[in-house]
Amino acid sequence: MDILNLIKSRRSPRGFVDKNINEEDLIKIFDAGRWAASSFNGQPWRFIYAHRDKNPELYEKLLDLMVEFNQAWAKAAPVLMVTMARCKYELTEEDYKHSWHDLGLAMGNMSIMAEAMGISLHIMGGFNSEKAKEELNIPDKFEPVTMVALGYAGQPTNLPLDIFKMEQQERVRKEIKEIAFNKAFDK
Ligand SMILES: Cc1cc2nc3c(=O)[nH]c(=O)nc-3n(C[C@H](O)[C@H](O)[C@H](O)COP(=O)(O)O)c2cc1C
Repeated sequence: MDILNLIKSRRSPRGFVDKNINEEDLIKIFDAGRWAASSFNGQPWRFIYAHRDKNPELYEKLLDLMVEFNQAWAKAAPVLMVTMARCKYELTEEDYKHSWHDLGLAMGNMSIMAEAMGISLHIMGGFNSEKAKEELNIPDKFEPVTMVALGYAGQPTNLPLDIFKMEQQERVRKEIKEIAFNKAFDK
């Protein structure tokens, strides 16, 4: 498939069909993530994930970190994940100013790899990062950044009505002329 079309077809669904993701497929998605560019090749991205069928205890723990709104739809996803960024470079222990940026690059790779495999990622900022640190024993040098629900997108059923309506809305984007400029800002 043409890459631009693949990128445009990616979306963040709030409905998932009842189908598990194979561990091998998940590993392919992580593989796409680890080949992202990063500042000084620092590779700050880390992930803690759980399959609902294979690791229900950790899955429930992850679900419990989310705000209620996200729990309402994400509980249908077969895999949940927390993403983390290392706050210091491993080599120098200096502040890693671009660690969230670099994690984002990995997530972009992972989203598109997943899309090519028919799997959807839905990234979330709505979770309790302090609780994540406690519950998952995350060392200080790592910062929880997002949570992610992964699954095969499907018609949302048993969703609260407000979330169901959100799913029907058209996806919108700014025009290119609103985001890319070939001159400095006007004074
Ligand atoms: C960092 C980040 C945080 C997000 N947080 C949430 C969230 O807490 N809950 C949610 O339902 N969607 C969340 N989203 C999904 C966005 O709402 C979604 O990406 C955006 O509306 C564009 O839709 P699309 O991904 O389908 O193109 C988040 C996305 C990103 C990248």
